This record gives sequence, structure tokens and C-alpha cells, in this order.
Amino acid sequence: MSRETSVLPPFADRRLGVLISGRGSNLQALVDATAARRLAATIAIVVSNRAAAPGLLRAGEAGIEAICLNPRDYDDRNAYDRAIVDVLRRRQVDLVCLAGFMRLIGPPLLDAFPYRVLNIHPSLLPAFPGTDAQRQALEYGVRVTGATVHLVTSDPDAGPIVTQAAVPVRDDDTVESLSARILVEEHRIYPEAVDMVLAGTWTVEGRRFVRHR
Ligand code: GRF
Repeated sequence: MSRETSVLPPFADRRLGVLISGRGSNLQALVDATAARRLAATIAIVVSNRAAAPGLLRAGEAGIEAICLNPRDYDDRNAYDRAIVDVLRRRQVDLVCLAGFMRLIGPPLLDAFPYRVLNIHPSLLPAFPGTDAQRQALEYGVRVTGATVHLVTSDPDAGPIVTQAAVPVRDDDTVESLSARILVEEHRIYPEAVDMVLAGTWTVEGRRFVRHR
């Protein structure tokens, strides 16, 4: 990553592509925020890698085009990522939001959308990257964990951090209770972060996401 990267993209149309694999509650938070005009954006397409993802139904109920691309239909990871890029480009997507998308993103997608892919992760990164972040936090014994929205780079869960929210860990927490409280924060900060990124008034300096008002 360069020391200072100017990224003031023309997000004029503010069109989002949302990638999911499952429940889709963060997708729902984005849908609700756009409907309530807290987030001035259009969700142009929802893509799932799993046909049974409940999030596809949520998209359908909201009148949003939703499709499944099955990785098994493609020769390799790059071919799959290229297919996603093709779908996103045909809908003129400006910004890609990963919302519980359980696949690593490869060069075809990252190169097509440089600093234009966002992810939400249920911990205060860089603590507890990867899967089961809430369980990792509970088992480690931290007193505070939370949620992070970051730009996606080739380094998984390690891109520049757009925003974070802290969630205290209670003595009687289970993975389920802790996950539920983190999720409330996820749903609050993801639309805010998308709005911030779409505003375009930011740069990446080193590994810092810096806003310019
Ligand atoms: C969320 O906890 C998110 O942080 C993580 O995967 C989960 C997806 O949940 N990346 P949902 O599908 O948005 O309900």
C-alpha cells in the first residue's frame, strides 16, 4: 500500500452491490437505511454464493434484484470472481459491500473495485480476524470487543479501518448473547460507514483511512 493514496472517486450514482452467504441481517440494515433515507444509495444487486441464503429472500421482499452465483459452476476462484465483477459492472455498481460473504475475495474483484469493497467484521480488528470472532473474543477473555467496517485489501480482515464500535463483554456472556449485542452495533455502523465512503472525501494514508471534511 502506498504511503498516501488519493481516493476521491466519483460515487455520483451511489449504487451498491451487496455480497452475502447467509442470514443477511446486515443486508437488511442497509435496505432499511436506504428506505429511511439515512443512507442515500441504491442497492443495485445482491449476490449470494449459496442458493439457500435467507438474505436472498430479504432482497426479494425489498424489490431488489438478487441472484446466486454457485462457485461450483466456475473453474477456479479467479473465474468466480470475474463472474461477480461482470454482474456488478453490468449494474453500474460503485461500491461493493460484503455482508457475511464467506469467501475470500481475489485479485479480479479487488482490481476491478480498488478501495471500493467494504467488509463488516464482528470484532475490534486487528483482534480476532477470521471466523468465529465472537467466540475467539469470549475465549480469550477480553473485556471489550465490537465491530469493524474496513476497506477490503488482499490481506484478509486487515484493510484500512473506516469505523468501529465497542461492545463490553459481560461475565455471563455466551457466544450467542455477545454476538447479538455486537450485531446491534454492526447494523448501526455499516450504513454509516457506507455513507462515509460514498461521500468520497477521504484518503488512505499508509494503512489509515483519513476523512477530510
Ligand atoms: C456478521 O456478524 C458479520 O459481521 C460477519 O458475518 C455475519 C453476517 O451476518 N462478517 P448477516 O448475514 O449479515 O446476518
